[in-house]
Amino acid sequence: MCLVEERLHYGQFVTPKLTRKAPIYDWYTFPHSFAKELVHQLLDEFDATPDTIIFDPFVGAGTTLLACRERGIPAFGIDQLPFSVFTSNVKIRNYNPGSLQTTFNTFKPLESIRQTFGKIPIIDKAFSDEAKKNILAIYGWTQTLPKKQADFFLLALLSILEKISQAVKSGGWLRIVENQVGPDDIEGLFRKQAQKMIDDIQGLNLPVVRQDIVEKNSPLTKQSTVITSKKSRQGARF
Ligand SMILES: C[S@@+](CC[C@H](N)C(=O)[O-])C[C@H]1O[C@@H](n2cnc3c(N)ncnc32)[C@H](O)[C@@H]1O
Repeated sequence: MCLVEERLHYGQFVTPKLTRKAPIYDWYTFPHSFAKELVHQLLDEFDATPDTIIFDPFVGAGTTLLACRERGIPAFGIDQLPFSVFTSNVKIRNYNPGSLQTTFNTFKPLESIRQTFGKIPIIDKAFSDEAKKNILAIYGWTQTLPKKQADFFLLALLSILEKISQAVKSGGWLRIVENQVGPDDIEGLFRKQAQKMIDDIQGLNLPVVRQDIVEKNSPLTKQSTVITSKKSRQGARF
């Protein structure tokens, strides 16, 4: 019996390219995210139904769980990275777009926030004092909201930080560049991203299913099928 089978035609989906253009999936992607098309084809191949429970032990940006949600298939996942757990949970939650819009219509940066960025040397190179002040003012507003909405708008803020940062990914490290996005553009970028996320929810209208993502070492639910990827030193292995 052959336990491992090579399916080279899936190679086209083992890249974040399509994911970076797909609503909700694109709220945040990882360099090793795969495409929802891969998950949908595997679900077909496994004859998955709403009675199947899918498990992804290396959730990353939550592609597997979100694709399962599109099909009304319950799924749960794990990741050791708290940011990955946060991002993926924000993507798979059930929202009321009308109530998000009502909240967003009241958006106003909170100038008097006491929170700071903490003493991380790279942060001072990545963001000017003015940029940090404007980011914190938006963060401050998110923290006045109920948890679910706070997380939603916080992800909108986190997902624009790469555009604002003067530290950009370069191979395995960061490179400092002169950024074209000025501190005064931050609020506009946030508004655009938050509105896009609300529109995505309205547009997709996903079915409600049981899904959850937890950090490593949490007790497992019984699963029937595993769909995952794991980062290795050579790149993504699937
Ligand atoms: C390649 S990413 C998964 C990408 C995902 N398939 C997607 O489409 O977004 C691999 C994930 O595995 C997580 N990971 C690696 N080793 C782990 C471990 N031992 N336990 C839990 N999670 C782990 C990493 O934090 C990372 O988020």
